[in-house]
Amino acid sequence: MKILVIGNDELTLLFKREGFITTNDPGDEIYAVVTVSNNYEIIPEDYPVFIMCSGGISDWAAKKAKPDAVFFNTIDEIKLLLKQPEPEAIPEKSTKSSLVIATYANKGGVGKTTVANSLALTLAKQGISTVICDFDFGGANLAGFYNLKGNFRDYFSGNAMECLIKAQNGLYVLPAPANVIPTQVKGEHLENVLDQLKKCFSVVLCDTCPSPWEKPYMGSIFSKTDLVYAVVNQSKFSIEETKIYGPQLLYMGAEMNNVRIILNQYDPKLVSIKEVEKCFNSGFKKGVKKLPSIVAVIPHDWQEANKATYKGNVTNADVWENVCQEIAFKLNITLTIETDQPKKNFLGFLKRR
Ligand SMILES: Nc1ncnc2c1ncn2[C@@H]1O[C@H](COP(=O)(O)OP(=O)(O)OP(=O)(O)O)[C@@H](O)[C@H]1O
Ligand SMILES: [Mg+2]
Repeated sequence: MKILVIGNDELTLLFKREGFITTNDPGDEIYAVVTVSNNYEIIPEDYPVFIMCSGGISDWAAKKAKPDAVFFNTIDEIKLLLKQPEPEAIPEKSTKSSLVIATYANKGGVGKTTVANSLALTLAKQGISTVICDFDFGGANLAGFYNLKGNFRDYFSGNAMECLIKAQNGLYVLPAPANVIPTQVKGEHLENVLDQLKKCFSVVLCDTCPSPWEKPYMGSIFSKTDLVYAVVNQSKFSIEETKIYGPQLLYMGAEMNNVRIILNQYDPKLVSIKEVEKCFNSGFKKGVKKLPSIVAVIPHDWQEANKATYKGNVTNADVWENVCQEIAFKLNITLTIETDQPKKNFLGFLKRR
């Protein structure tokens, strides 16, 4: 049973933060309606109604039209009346150890967030407790992928756990705080956030900004990573940019052994898969034995990507399950893979090259 919130994103967030389960869909199973006074005309019948006062003339009109409604100014006044459920505790970490995983790219719009979300949703589906964090402070948009809107709280100086929002079973989102000024973010703040999250989640997934080497605080994330997925977007591929991209990651503190390459928006008519991998690795010193390799090839499919994005679905699920096998292995667990659909096994394809 949920609370129906009508017409105000801030209001939805206010109730979510207090632990209420909310919906914007009047067709859901609801037990109360919450709205602001200028929406009083579109309130469904037969439910207890709670109207937040605006301080304007619409309060007067709403009180006249809905004399039975409860009018309130702050959520504290009605929390108890709404029988606030116990705030859902964050479930126990599903493994003993935990991993910090980050996406990485030299430029914007190449698929970092899509990769982070695909991994997060795949891991959560497997019962691996996961938190996905928006560390792209200049262009934060992760919350939008989970239909979360509003002014998210600042976690830099306080408790990051209090700023988490549940997206679905086993998956929490740490949105970027509202109005954060990227130049004021300090590396030690982010380290502190990662330490807090690692205590409670098996996987802490960090979605990052383009050209992270320009932001000193990003080194604090990359130096703590157990795995980094460097995204190379074939539709925006450039030899010059790709060959300096790997060394820059090591410069920020990531370890060579932990770097994996995701080839996104693959189009067989463009540069070959082998060529992309060679180019990515060409900037490393000669004689390095184990160079990063491409672990997933994601075809260009704009329509599918967009259809899935805002519904919490993953396109190319089999490819992501394959990628997550390594994550599971590092956590000492085995994934349950559904075999009812034919697999587009790009890894197998890569091995055959
Ligand atoms: N394989 C794909 N095929 C088609 N479209 C894709 C694919 N991957 C990502 N996209 C689309 O490209 C756009 C940019 O993707 P995304 O937001 O993941 O990139 P980003 O690197 O995180 O960008 P930013 O730097 O702005 O944060 C999105 O609209 C996404 O749906
Ligand atoms: Mg992004």
